[in-house]
Amino acid sequence: MTLTTAPAFLETESEIIGRLGKSPTLLDVRGLCVDYVTEAGNIRACDDIDLTLKRGEILGVAGESASGKSTLLNALGRLQRMPAATSAGEIVFHPTDGTDPVDLAALSESELAPYRWTKISVVMQSAMASLNPVIRLGEQFTDVIRTHDPRLTEQDARDQAADLLTMVGISADRLTAFPFQLSGGMQQRALIALSLACDPDLVLMDEPTTAVDVVMQRQILDQVLAAQQRLGFAVVFVTHDLSLLLEISDRIAIMYGGKIVENGTAARLHGSAKHPYTRALRQAFPPLSEPVRRLSGIAGSPPDLLDLPPGCAFAPRCGSAMPICHQRIPELRDIPQGRSACFLSNGELSETELSEQKSAADSQDQGDHR
Ligand SMILES: Nc1ncnc2c1ncn2[C@@H]1O[C@H](COP(=O)(O)OP(=O)(O)O)[C@@H](O)[C@H]1O
Ligand SMILES: [Mg+2]
Repeated sequence: MTLTTAPAFLETESEIIGRLGKSPTLLDVRGLCVDYVTEAGNIRACDDIDLTLKRGEILGVAGESASGKSTLLNALGRLQRMPAATSAGEIVFHPTDGTDPVDLAALSESELAPYRWTKISVVMQSAMASLNPVIRLGEQFTDVIRTHDPRLTEQDARDQAADLLTMVGISADRLTAFPFQLSGGMQQRALIALSLACDPDLVLMDEPTTAVDVVMQRQILDQVLAAQQRLGFAVVFVTHDLSLLLEISDRIAIMYGGKIVENGTAARLHGSAKHPYTRALRQAFPPLSEPVRRLSGIAGSPPDLLDLPPGCAFAPRCGSAMPICHQRIPELRDIPQGRSACFLSNGELSETELSEQKSAADSQDQGDHR
């Protein structure tokens, strides 16, 4: 089985940048912080997140479990619930109708209503929890479609629903089915079709293929890409599986301990990831369409957000850590093809400092082995 659309990484770095460069900005996230206020303390699950998304772009967000991906996605869609709260930052949405940009983070629930479904929609991991189990699929589609465009007749809405289902490879006669009558993979595809019902500009997807088998995963990705090419919506696609993102994304942000530690085009992250965490994550998953290579897990566990180490949060697990990595948090800085928060690549240290740090790390290693 092959993807109908060429995997993004077959495009070169400059092709991706050229294509995105022509596209206007859709979403501009600046300094976004999200905290969980718990009895044990304040957990900052998203820390100073900056992201830019162009119209029609597929942005992947990868990281191990507990790195803050779902928290970020929920914050972008203003779906977070207590004890989560956005404590700082802006989520500036640029409407495609040319009206003024608006900061979604500052809107009230009622002000947000016109954005839901028609501008921004969401696909969660568990379709069964998102679809209503006691309402036939067709009715769930027509409800959404007609609520947002009351001028449509029931028949128009049904035709549109049939078209959406067919687009994700489900026969239109399943509109009369209840969700439980569909397989898990079909439910997930139906949910993706439903998210497209009001022709949104942005679809937020949280691990939409994690609960299905590998063959179904490929079919779903294939259909998402085909629908995206036809309808032109942008996607933020969250998953722990970096290999998958390398195939479908234009750009990718890597999260660790609530921060973005590296971002760049899929082509650059595929060929020359800079952050040791990104490289470790790459080694941890089998590639979707390249020869199978030896996999290696990442030793150790993700950091406890209530008890972060003083320097880089990845330093305790990092094979390339230098003394400074345990003392100071590296800044997420611009690098030639994206951004990196690693002293080895972000330009924060001078050449001399870097080589001193590397030799200190080497002598420590030799000391450890003696
Ligand atoms: N309901 C919650 N209450 C308290 N802390 C939470 C809650 N949900 C998530 N967190 C904290 O946020 C961190 C990131 O969680 P999450 O965004 O779900 O990560 P991911 O999606 O990358 O697995 C968790 O490690 C945990 O510390
Ligand atoms: Mg998650």
